[in-house]
Amino acid sequence: MRRVILLGLLITPLALVSCGGGSKGETKETPAEKEKVVAETEKASEQVSEFGVGPVQEPLNLPETIDEALAKKGEELFEKKQCTSCHKLDDRLVGPPLRDVVNQRPPEWIMNMIVNPEEMILKDPVAKKLLEEYGVPMTNQNVSVEEARAILEFLRKAAREKK
Ligand code: HEC
Repeated sequence: MRRVILLGLLITPLALVSCGGGSKGETKETPAEKEKVVAETEKASEQVSEFGVGPVQEPLNLPETIDEALAKKGEELFEKKQCTSCHKLDDRLVGPPLRDVVNQRPPEWIMNMIVNPEEMILKDPVAKKLLEEYGVPMTNQNVSVEEARAILEFLRKAAREKK
């Protein structure tokens, strides 16, 4: 931008006025700046771990067995937190079907998606692809990490009850 103004200064005072005037309210990026932003965004998504972006960055090391009481709590939360308005287990609704999600993604990633969807769809490459496919951003339903753990247990149980 500075270079443009300098150039304007060199040419004519008129050029300076039009250039300076134009640059004030101007938010458009030059192609070079745009490229830089794209490169930085790409770099940022490369740095995202396989767990995604969010508070869950340590491996959960889940036991093989299902905690039935926790799964029950998760099922209730799945309703209470209105996940059901966008998700079904077996069919696509606003969002993807969730019956098989525990076999498709790491459990830590699923928890981060549940507690931190806004950042996930901006930075995590898998979540970004999902947003492209579904065209609707998943909303933050104010789920705590503990509640997300219960919902995860419900999803783990659901995956084993496959039709
Ligand atoms: C407003 C609709 C909406 C609500 C409410 C919602 N989601 Fe989503 N969810 C989506 C969409 C759409 C996607 C796909 C990514 C995107 O487009 O943002 C998604 C993606 C996901 C994924 C990743 C799916 C995959 O295939 O990897 C999980 C897991 C998930 N949601 C769980 C939940 C849970 C649990 C809740 C409730 C706490 C919830 N969602 C609430 C719309 C919603």
